[in-house]
Amino acid sequence: MGISYDEQNSIFRLENDFFSYIFQITEKGILRHLYFGGRIGEFDPSSLTDLGWDWSRTYLDADGAEKIYADNYYNDRSLAEAASHGLMDKSGAPFIVKKKGGVTATSFVYESHRIYNGKPELSTLPSTHGENAQTLELILKDIYGEEKLLLSYTLFENLGVIARNSVIFNCGKEDIVLEKICSLELDLPESNFDLIHFHGDWCLERFAERKPLSNGNFSVASNMGRSSHEENPFAILCAKNADEFSGEAYAFSFVYSGNFRLSVNVDKWRRTRVLMGINEEDFSYTVRGGEKFEAPEGIIVYSREGFNGISHSMHDLIRDNLIKFKNAKSLRPVLFNSWEGCYLDFDTQSILGYIENAADIGAELFVLDDGWFGRRDTDSRSLGDWFVADYKINLKKIIEKCHSLNMKFGIWFEPEMINPDSDLYRARPDYALGDGKHERTLSRHQLVIDTANDEVVDLLFERMSAILDGYDIDYVKWDHNRNIGEITGSRAEYGETYHRLILGTYKLLDRLQKKYPDILFEGCASGGGRFDLGMLYYHPQIWTSDETDPVQRLFIQYGTSYAYPLSAMGSHISKNPIMSYKDKGKIALFGTYGIEMNPCLLTREERDEVKEINAVYKKYHRDVILNGDLYRLRSPFEGNYMSLMSVSKDRNKALVLFANILKENNRYRFLKLQGLDRNKKYSNSLDGKIYGGDYYMQVGLNLSVWLDEFKTYLVVLEEA
Ligand code: DGJ
Repeated sequence: MGISYDEQNSIFRLENDFFSYIFQITEKGILRHLYFGGRIGEFDPSSLTDLGWDWSRTYLDADGAEKIYADNYYNDRSLAEAASHGLMDKSGAPFIVKKKGGVTATSFVYESHRIYNGKPELSTLPSTHGENAQTLELILKDIYGEEKLLLSYTLFENLGVIARNSVIFNCGKEDIVLEKICSLELDLPESNFDLIHFHGDWCLERFAERKPLSNGNFSVASNMGRSSHEENPFAILCAKNADEFSGEAYAFSFVYSGNFRLSVNVDKWRRTRVLMGINEEDFSYTVRGGEKFEAPEGIIVYSREGFNGISHSMHDLIRDNLIKFKNAKSLRPVLFNSWEGCYLDFDTQSILGYIENAADIGAELFVLDDGWFGRRDTDSRSLGDWFVADYKINLKKIIEKCHSLNMKFGIWFEPEMINPDSDLYRARPDYALGDGKHERTLSRHQLVIDTANDEVVDLLFERMSAILDGYDIDYVKWDHNRNIGEITGSRAEYGETYHRLILGTYKLLDRLQKKYPDILFEGCASGGGRFDLGMLYYHPQIWTSDETDPVQRLFIQYGTSYAYPLSAMGSHISKNPIMSYKDKGKIALFGTYGIEMNPCLLTREERDEVKEINAVYKKYHRDVILNGDLYRLRSPFEGNYMSLMSVSKDRNKALVLFANILKENNRYRFLKLQGLDRNKKYSNSLDGKIYGGDYYMQVGLNLSVWLDEFKTYLVVLEEA
């Protein structure tokens, strides 16, 4: 693997076992994209740059002479690494910088570069890291202004991934205004692609939808102030013949939790341009002379093995090169969460009962969700008042009870919100977003607290620290229950607010995580409203969805798995009556695994079912699910079944989940497995027999039986 520079032809090559990514500096210093795809050998670059047009080949030079584009680079149609704005390229600009006098033409040309081992982290934003990486940094200069652009490309040894980033330096004295800054651009010389994006809603997150690309622009975006339930900052661009296991696919992701836009543009030249960055709507950022602006990191993934190939690179990147939590690879405690059992309606006595019953069904971490602070008996008050509700609960006693039963204790916060009915709001209404003069939409009776204000970040840090220092707490669930809007009023920096809010949140997370490195943080935003790489940097797991209906979960977890590993997907056995506890447990196992209901109401049989699943969790989850390789076998978006399997990295053990939705009569139904070692023999818990890896992958598990609706199988394979 490596990054190299061919000085004679001014060509950069970034290559590993997965791909070659190649671009060139033209005679005028423009970065011209040449190729990104499966690994290739040497070639004559002119074979890629001769576009066959011999008209409009000239330009008027600054010296007044008409000249020919000798290097074949046309700024309206050639492939670019950092396309210009305000010239002839009309297919979407990655950078728009407004300079003195309102000039917005922006065109960057090469100044210098360096190649080095490793990867620096960003200074204000979460980003990937890694020893097993090499980085190329280029410095470019805007010919219309005094700012410079640092473009970086990081190549990881065993992943089909390039991490991309842009930083703008204002090298002049006058302010400049960034109207748009993208983190990645990819131009491809074809357009015969499909696009898969992951849209949704609260309780319907990450529904995979595949659509053909056609001329014009399609955007996957959020302007909700968070990455959102509605669209996820991840999409796949693939060949028409690509499927889960074969075909060429490119994917794009973003290490950011705020507004984003992934735009895919097919122009009249049939060039496809992908741009990903902060959503330019509501964005305009002033960079003073001598200062810089760091964009969030963008991720590009390439696979010749279809979508599972994309997922393998994404999952390993997230687990090995993104998540910061030092114990993320260790088996996590079986989590019990109080929310769906009692919501806000509890007292010390009832919670002690929950704890005893949770311990009885094998929980190892008891999480007291919303309702423990301020005067929080109803969801219309107290967000912001992070003091224990002593009138309602005795928190010390609750924690002692957990410890006496060998359970850890965790607690819920929603730091970025404030209720108008709170002591904090009464004292400091200016801490809430909005000017207080205009009407503001409440969502779940709450407003957004201004984390762009350092004073607010300090206050939240202090209040949360007081709780985390005062009590023995091993886990924090970090919620965020509304979209952000109506940043009204006189804020001069309106175009900066969304970005500054998320920077403030990251600051708070950073400080807390450094102070409490042993605490396991779980992200949550009304379930999966902020399931993104920015949050995963701080939170090794995220509550995937508030939807705990196990049938809906088949879709939600399947859709989420394209980008995110099972180790990140909060998933619990719930009270939903549609399936037995055992069957719900099988689905919950394909995630972080936890339990969430009123445990006092469980019958003896139900307790035994949960314990049976706990035993599978203990035995297999760490190697097979948490750290193994996931294969999607059957998509519920395309048929009546959902099937996933996960294989330990040493290929010795695997778990297979199969569920159908509608009832089906007997019919041939062989489920071909993936990822096993062809030369190993494995026992399976379905028929108790031993077969070779080749048999399981070529013949499959025999499921040719009558299937009632929602029939669920969990098959364990172990090397015999
Ligand atoms: C939304 C979360 O997704 C739930 O799990 C729960 O924590 C509630 N918020 C609490 O208000």
